[in-house]
Amino acid sequence: MNTDRIRQEIPLTQEVIYLDNASTSLSPQPVIDAMLEYETHYRANVGRGVHRLSQIAGQLYWDSHETVNRFIGGEGGTSVFVRNCTEAINMVSHGLTFRPGDEIITTVTDHHSNLLPWYVLREKGINVNVISPAANPMAGITAEDISSAITKNTRLVAVSHASNVLGTIHPVKEIAKIAHDHDTLFLVDGAQSVPHLKTDVRDIGCDYLCFSGHKMLGPTGTGVLWMAEDSLEPLLLGGGMIDEVTTDGYQVSSGYSKYEAGTPNVAGALGLRAAVKYLNSIGMSDIEAHEYVLTGQLLSGLSGIEGVSIIGPPEGENRIGVVSFMIEGLHPHEVAHILDDQYSIIVRSGHHCCMPLMQHLGLPDGTVRASLYLYNTKEEIQTLIESVKEIVEGV
Ligand code: ALA
Repeated sequence: MNTDRIRQEIPLTQEVIYLDNASTSLSPQPVIDAMLEYETHYRANVGRGVHRLSQIAGQLYWDSHETVNRFIGGEGGTSVFVRNCTEAINMVSHGLTFRPGDEIITTVTDHHSNLLPWYVLREKGINVNVISPAANPMAGITAEDISSAITKNTRLVAVSHASNVLGTIHPVKEIAKIAHDHDTLFLVDGAQSVPHLKTDVRDIGCDYLCFSGHKMLGPTGTGVLWMAEDSLEPLLLGGGMIDEVTTDGYQVSSGYSKYEAGTPNVAGALGLRAAVKYLNSIGMSDIEAHEYVLTGQLLSGLSGIEGVSIIGPPEGENRIGVVSFMIEGLHPHEVAHILDDQYSIIVRSGHHCCMPLMQHLGLPDGTVRASLYLYNTKEEIQTLIESVKEIVEGV
């Protein structure tokens, strides 16, 4: 993998050591160029005109869906463009019909975006069961956790493929089997996995997968909800999603259009298309291998420093490059601030939109979190380790 070339296409990598990729990633020049090209040369609405600009934009917008669908092995299903995973999961929670007494299982390791859209259903008499890892809270959710919680009333299981705090990879393929053996739908939050691990929705066997474009080199305000069947009720109604409207009613169209009422984020979609092509041109296996090496280096470097504790699996196996840690005697925000101010290292600190997990772990102030991507280098990881050592020595 040619990290130098990738870094040349992302000017910010020359200015800072960017290690907040679980929050949002940086876009390389081809992604920015794709959006600029649309704005400059064929800026038009899509699916609404027969003129030449609309034809070009419409064709590329359609191809963006196809490109994304292929990226996750989702042919035959539907990839709907949304703003982010939060919107995607709200779409599912609003679009399914639940009855009082139905049960939804999610987990304490999940992001608020995979909790709140389910919590709101409690007002309708739906039982939302937020399960915790039974064995080791640092090791994430296991298939056994799901199988011991699932009941005949469970309508849906919603679990992240990888934790944005612990870095754990959850056994989504086994969970899919358990869910389907119980005739239960399965939603995978792929926000932290799709950008880093080769993903195949058919191999996983899920009914829904969501992910965010901005965490995989794409523009902010882009995301995807893939669904095996387009049987959800649409969240929004209006222009662009109908086959026919009369004064009496309307007939919705099928496929992604049904879920994308109103003028979409066309530039964002074309940027996301370029991001997926960029990742494909490098190869997801090479990206995964590169991050695996850096993650191992970071874990072994940090665990060798007295006064530093890692919050999550201490080894590189079965985890992604999201590494949460604490420095004894310092608030996580203080550490993040010093890393930025004195070392130009960008990390996230705090609860990472996972307050229930922080309560479960007994970490009211949250953690410091370094999260890697394809453009990070061994030298950058070494600088982070050395900087943490210096901070610890100064406490
Ligand atoms: N979900 C993103 C994070 O964990 C925002 O930082």
